[in-house]
Amino acid sequence: MKIIICGALGKMGAKLRENALKTDEITPLCGVDIKCADLNGFKVYDSFDKIAEKADAVIDFSSKASLENVLSYCVKTKTPAVLCSTGYDENDLAAINKASENVALFRSANMSLGVNVLIEAVKFAAKKLYDFDIEIIEKHHNKKADAPSGTAVMIKDGIKEVFPDRIEVYGRHGIVGARYKKEIGIHAVRGGTIVGEHQVIFAGDNESLTFTHNAESRDVFAAGALSAARFIAKKEKGLFDMKDLLSENA
Ligand SMILES: NC(=O)c1ccc[n+]([C@@H]2O[C@H](COP(=O)([O-])OP(=O)(O)OC[C@H]3O[C@@H](n4cnc5c(N)ncnc54)[C@H](O)[C@@H]3O)[C@@H](O)[C@H]2O)c1
Repeated sequence: MKIIICGALGKMGAKLRENALKTDEITPLCGVDIKCADLNGFKVYDSFDKIAEKADAVIDFSSKASLENVLSYCVKTKTPAVLCSTGYDENDLAAINKASENVALFRSANMSLGVNVLIEAVKFAAKKLYDFDIEIIEKHHNKKADAPSGTAVMIKDGIKEVFPDRIEVYGRHGIVGARYKKEIGIHAVRGGTIVGEHQVIFAGDNESLTFTHNAESRDVFAAGALSAARFIAKKEKGLFDMKDLLSENA
């Protein structure tokens, strides 16, 4: 299987290539980034237009800024894509939905198995602990561009599937008064080289329950993205996520 890595010169792009090279069946064909490069024979182009050979999948770990180019290349060449970048807005999500009518797309703001199980566990707890206050704390390295993290948004969306009337409140500052019962507090910590930590706190009367996930290395996201590429390469069109991958492997 051949893959194109979008964001090839970034931290995740490098990790993904390293992990792909360790597999027997996945070969990094070339990369795309904002400038051209040659990494020991692995070519990185500054445009999808410069790619001559067909790949089985594109894996994107770049930024929301590349979305339009990724989608137009994938639709034009019928190449499935795994979209791992975060920070997409409503227009981006609508564009992803539209493109998935013509090509297979897989999107997850967190490619780790643990986080996706965490979300299912949080949804279960939310149903049982419906009267508890729920707060999300995420911690990431000091280079992260978007806040809150895409994963914190996924956790919040999971809670809102259970309680559609909950309202997200980002960080608190000043005299905010007593906590409104239906808030979901979301807090972003930035510092050092933290790969990614997420905590979900259920605080009730005289007891609290905290779920914690720590990503100890970027390898976990790279491994998940490669599993997603194996999954999506077999599909013709449609939009898939980690739930589809997990249920196929269940
Ligand atoms: N889904 C997941 O599990 C997961 C895990 C980690 C990171 N991420 C996300 O992946 C993205 C990349 O993370 P990173 O830590 O590698 O960041 P990074 O800043 O180290 O790398 C991003 C790379 O993308 C390139 N890039 C930016 N805009 C581009 C464009 N328009 N076209 C082509 N290339 C472009 C940059 O030049 C850079 O080389 C971020 O959005 C991050 O939040 C997702």
